[in-house]
Amino acid sequence: MKNRHFSPEKKWSIIAALSGLVGGVLLISTFLQVTDNPITCNLRRSTPIEPIQLNAILHYATSHIVPQQSLAEIRVSFDVLRSLSPCNFLVFGLGHDSLMWASFNAGGTTLFLEEDPKWVQTILKNAPDLRAHHVKYRTQLSESDDLLKSYRSEPDCSPIKSFVKNNDKCKLALVGLPDEVYDKEWDLIMIDAPRGFFAQAPGRMAAIYSAAVMARNRKRSGVTHVFLHDVDRRVEKAYAEEFLCRKNLVKGVGRLWHFELPPVANFSGGSGGGSGFC
Ligand SMILES: C[S@@+](CC[C@H](N)C(=O)[O-])C[C@H]1O[C@@H](n2cnc3c(N)ncnc32)[C@H](O)[C@@H]1O
Repeated sequence: MKNRHFSPEKKWSIIAALSGLVGGVLLISTFLQVTDNPITCNLRRSTPIEPIQLNAILHYATSHIVPQQSLAEIRVSFDVLRSLSPCNFLVFGLGHDSLMWASFNAGGTTLFLEEDPKWVQTILKNAPDLRAHHVKYRTQLSESDDLLKSYRSEPDCSPIKSFVKNNDKCKLALVGLPDEVYDKEWDLIMIDAPRGFFAQAPGRMAAIYSAAVMARNRKRSGVTHVFLHDVDRRVEKAYAEEFLCRKNLVKGVGRLWHFELPPVANFSGGSGGGSGFC
C-alpha cells in the first residue's frame, strides 16, 4: 500500500496552491462585480427592486390615468432624483403621480402634504405604502396680491427670522404640521399643489414661501432642489420671483421651473439678508 501521508514540502505546496486558488477566485469575483462587460452582466449581483417599485410598475402598466405633468417635465425631477436618491423628498399634493415619485426615491423618505383629507384616503386606499399628511392652509388665492404686498410689514415673515414651525403671525408659513416636516432637511421639494385655479382655493403662496424658508435654513451640505409646477399662472410666477428668486432658477421645461436654493449662509452678500428674499 502506498503511503497516503504527504511530505512536508508537498503539504506546503498544496497550501500555497489553495491560497493561490482562493486569491484568484476573489480577484475574478471582484472583477465581475465592477465591470460593465456584457458577458459578465448576468453574473453581477443586481440592486434588488423594492416592493414599492414593483407596485408602481403594476399600477402604471394597468392604469389608464396618467400623471398631469408631461414626460419632459417629469424628467427634470427624475434626473435629480437619480443622482440624489435615496434622499428626503417633500411633495405638495397627492395625485396620480404620487406612486411614481415615491418609487423613484425607494429607500429614501418621500412625504406628501395634501389639502383634502378625503383625497388622502382615496389615494392611500390604492397605495398604502405612501406617507401623507393633511395640511390646513390659512390662505385663499383671492388674498395672494395683498399677502405679497403686506408680508414685509410682518416681522415674523422676514427672511432674517426665517422660521415656519409655530409661525402663527406669518400667514404664509405652514403651521400645525408634524415635527418631521420641520425637522427633516429636504433635498427636493415638489410644489404641484394645493389647488390654485379658483378664488377660494388655498393657492400655492404658503407652499412656495415655506419651501423657500426651509431651503434657506438647510444645515447640510448642498442645495435644496425646488420644483414648481403651473408657472404659466400669475400667482405661481409672482411668488416664485419673490421667494425662490430668478437667480436660483436653473431650468424651465413646459410649465415647470426648477430652482436650486443654497442655504442662507451661502447667499451672496447683501441679497437675501434684508427685508426681501432675493
Ligand atoms: C394639480 S393637482 C396635483 C395633480 C398631481 N400632480 C397629478 O399629477 O395627479 C393638485 C391637487 O388637486 C387635488 N386633486 C387632484 N386630482 C384630484 C381628483 N381626481 N379628485 C379630487 N382632488 C384631486 C388634490 O387636492 C391635489 O393635491
